[in-house]
Amino acid sequence: MQRLARQWQREGIRVGLVPTMGYLHAGHLSLVKKARGIVGARGKVVVSIYVNPTQFGPQEDFSRYPRDLKRDASLCQAEGVDIVFAPRDDEMYARNESGVFSTFVVEEALSRGMEGKSRPTHFRGVTTVVVKLLNIVLPEFAVFGAKDYQQAAIVQRMVRDLNFSVKIVVAPILREPDGVAMSSRNKYLEGELRTQAEVLWRSIEKVRADLRKSPTAISAASLKTRVKGFIEREPAARLDYVEFFDSKTLIPVTKVNRGAHMALAVFIGKTRLIDNARL
Ligand code: PAJ
Repeated sequence: MQRLARQWQREGIRVGLVPTMGYLHAGHLSLVKKARGIVGARGKVVVSIYVNPTQFGPQEDFSRYPRDLKRDASLCQAEGVDIVFAPRDDEMYARNESGVFSTFVVEEALSRGMEGKSRPTHFRGVTTVVVKLLNIVLPEFAVFGAKDYQQAAIVQRMVRDLNFSVKIVVAPILREPDGVAMSSRNKYLEGELRTQAEVLWRSIEKVRADLRKSPTAISAASLKTRVKGFIEREPAARLDYVEFFDSKTLIPVTKVNRGAHMALAVFIGKTRLIDNARL
């Protein structure tokens, strides 16, 4: 992959990367379309498909994370993707006669809250694998989804802090008709659980309505209590966190106004879902 990337570079061909863990859905494909729109017909769009073990905690769903490379490859082909880069674990994290993999990239501010608090080693795995993918594919830009809002912010910060010669493009969240954000993990939700998953988006809409009705800002603490109550009216739902923060800095706010950002993580049964939106 890297040899091909260097050849493209020498030939002046524009390259965009869409990093994914596969089990592709329309949300992923919207990032592919965005990349194609930027590089044009002569440029190259690379989709990486790699379920990255270092970003999963020991109790998380790494081994049962949905995988279907055949289906993903044909979706990519239909979308006009030039290269699907799908490395094996032993290629990405070598364990061989020259030793074990031992270098990680860690962002230390934006990673502390929200997902980072609930999943302590998650972002260390994400930043490390993203650096590896950027070094392998050498793209001019990489496209990330706002679905993982904190992840996109951390990758942007890392690229700036470490002088990567790449632009990070953030694309909007694609949702199902009922508002549920598209996610590979929605596959875990059957029947009644899938219906209960609507509560994430409905809680965002409810906070928006509360803010519209209120003549002044509402305290974050009071909104958090309301959201928890609203979410946990669903029998299988348990709130992991809800946070209100500044869209740019990710710093929590104590008074919530329209324009603030809201993010939440909710267990629906055993499945952990996340969502976010600008209010
Ligand atoms: P994954 O969860 O497969 O997501 C790949 C990309 O698709 C991410 O940038 C994510 O934000 C975006 N995405 C997912 N669902 C979306 C939706 N409904 N609308 C728009 N974009 C959506 O995020 C990862 O993989 C990994 O952490 C990765 C960056 C690949 C590193 O391993």
